[in-house]
Amino acid sequence: MIYLDNAATSFPKPNIVYDEIYRCMREYCANPGRSGHKMSLASAIAVQEARETISKFFNIRNPLQIAFTKNATEALNIIIQGTARAGCHIIATSMEHNSILRPLKELEKKGIAEVSIVWGNETGQIDPASIKRLIKSNTSLIICTLSSNVNGIIMPIEEIGKLAAEYNIPFLLDAAQGAGSINIDVEKMNITYMAFPGHKGLMGPQGTGGLYIKEGMFVKPLLKGGTGSFSSSLDQPEIMPDLHESGTLNLPGIVGLKAGIEFINGLGIENIKLYKNMLLKRLYEGIKEIDGVKIYSKMNINENSGILALNIFDCDSTEIAEILSSKYNIAVRGGYHCAPLAHKTLGTEKQGLVRFSLGCFNTIEDIDYTIKAIREISSQYSK
Ligand SMILES: Cc1ncc(COP(=O)(O)O)c(C=O)c1O
Repeated sequence: MIYLDNAATSFPKPNIVYDEIYRCMREYCANPGRSGHKMSLASAIAVQEARETISKFFNIRNPLQIAFTKNATEALNIIIQGTARAGCHIIATSMEHNSILRPLKELEKKGIAEVSIVWGNETGQIDPASIKRLIKSNTSLIICTLSSNVNGIIMPIEEIGKLAAEYNIPFLLDAAQGAGSINIDVEKMNITYMAFPGHKGLMGPQGTGGLYIKEGMFVKPLLKGGTGSFSSSLDQPEIMPDLHESGTLNLPGIVGLKAGIEFINGLGIENIKLYKNMLLKRLYEGIKEIDGVKIYSKMNINENSGILALNIFDCDSTEIAEILSSKYNIAVRGGYHCAPLAHKTLGTEKQGLVRFSLGCFNTIEDIDYTIKAIREISSQYSK
């Protein structure tokens, strides 16, 4: 299958990821940080090395400020639920994923938080000045996605981080789309909290993700339980990362995530960005003139994380995705992409969108074949 669904999860993974997971499971996969035997220590060292690799990748000063989670959703929920206090005000954008919008909605319904949404323009772009206008004395959190999972638009994160720092408001970055092909520097971008999945652009396996919390910030945990530390105490330890890492960690996954990041470092993030952009441009050039094709993504390298979203005439986008899968063996996602306000922003509430999301293993041949498939599908509908 030609896999163009990398925004959902990346596939395939680099061989080094498969190899390291297999080696871990065969050779030393004990419970990290629990027992004192050699295998447990080897496992704890592997976790610590993964933390160090991740912290270097995002310019995080202290690796212990990273807690492993099972995906980005868990990390986002920890921050949203763990920092909300009665009477607080939270600002988010219309381009956010439901992993942010749903917990926010619940806080709103319970009367805990007031939520303000900053609407993107017709391409989904967020203007930091619109965020500034909404800031109030009780604003406790600003949330923004690095890039939209619906159409790939990249947000002005550095400017938003600067604004948040100016007003001394914590800034939560959702790095689910773009981590691995967009350079993230938590210091330079003034990021207070960052949620990242391991299984998308970072090339790790599913069941991995993480949360960065700036030193000095305390966030109430979602889960409490065994951490391997302070075992005789009935209280949840308040030190990072133990505070947010109750229960046995996904060691094979974490080892795989580390290998994924090493693979990215080997290729160079800038080269990945350039390569994906070359493929994206080729796809765009190949389909932009096709009858009935309407494109919702921008094509500038600095404005798109690797997604081309389109519709064909007024066809149902899930139907197009189904034809691409069954007739052409091309994997894409159709319909609504867990971001209802983003569809409202882009005006695609009725049809949804067909999303082609590229990865670093896609080839020029994949793209040319996809262009041919789109041309054929469009010609059928134009009759
Ligand atoms: C922008 C964005 N945020 C958050 C998530 C949630 O990520 P995960 O599936 O790892 O929980 C996704 C998933 O597609 C996403 O695209």
